[in-house]
Amino acid sequence: MTQVNWGERPGEMQDLVREIKKLKEERKAVILAHLYQRPEVQDIADFIGDSLGLSQQAAQTDAEVIVFCGVHFMAESAYILSPDKIVLLPEPEAGCPMADMITAEALRAKKKEHRDAIVVCYVNSSAEVKAESDICCTSANAVKVVESLPPDRPILFVPDRNLGHYVAKKTGREIILWDGYCNTHDQITLEEVKKAREEHPNALLMVHPECRPEVVAEADAVFSTSGMIRFARENPAREFLVGTEMGILHQLRKQCPDKEFYLVSDRLICPNMKATTLDKVYWALKDLRPQITVPENIRQGAVRALEKMLAITG
Ligand code: 13P
Ligand code: SF4
Repeated sequence: MTQVNWGERPGEMQDLVREIKKLKEERKAVILAHLYQRPEVQDIADFIGDSLGLSQQAAQTDAEVIVFCGVHFMAESAYILSPDKIVLLPEPEAGCPMADMITAEALRAKKKEHRDAIVVCYVNSSAEVKAESDICCTSANAVKVVESLPPDRPILFVPDRNLGHYVAKKTGREIILWDGYCNTHDQITLEEVKKAREEHPNALLMVHPECRPEVVAEADAVFSTSGMIRFARENPAREFLVGTEMGILHQLRKQCPDKEFYLVSDRLICPNMKATTLDKVYWALKDLRPQITVPENIRQGAVRALEKMLAITG
């Protein structure tokens, strides 16, 4: 079927949104969107959240189809947790460069060097890497997950060195770090953050734990994306500096219309998170593809690591 690009001319957007809603009903679908998605994609979602919240939704939904507006590892996790559902990733090329910084083969080799270590795997990783790990974590629960592990064992934390460093500091645990990082968060410099603080002296600085250690050390608060929304809503401060991807501004401004939010850097954009458009959501629902699946032998290993995490944090 030839695909036309919907929503490009004025007035078409409302038609497109109406068609998506209609198709969603017909397909008994649920639309999950990460907080870095484009504003118009967030606005048609049934649930918007961080990686933990989205995994919980994927595990619990009774919809027949999950449309995942996010990146590949997120849709893959949804399938791992709900293999009886059709999981759609509207833009199949939307990956996570950090997840690609580790392979199952490289992890197997590292495990041989550290035979007594417990492997904690950030969800920003492939199903194969999850299957090689003892337990998963997200940015929202990494500290809690590590605290739940036997204190006499070292931890091999993959693939994000910055999140691993943050968790080591918070828990005092011995953590062996993998040398992976998020291009979007790791590029924020301490100089940028200090300059932003000078420009907005009354603002509280909240950052994502994927930022470099020196940036995290400078922050007033360190949270997952959903954690930042909650913090901004509940904190009486009127101004906030934001150290994470720009997509979060849409919900921050929607949910806290009387507060001001400033990004600490104008380079805070994840191109993969911006690759999903309303047009692609429409075609995914219409054609029921691209579907994300995982071979059953790998899924079995990955689901064990994900379910262990969910048992700790709900
Ligand atoms: P959150 O789980 O905090 O939403 O983070 C996901 C992510 O990819 C951050 O770059
Ligand atoms: Fe991956 Fe970073 Fe994009 Fe998150 S923001 S999906 S960690 S590249």
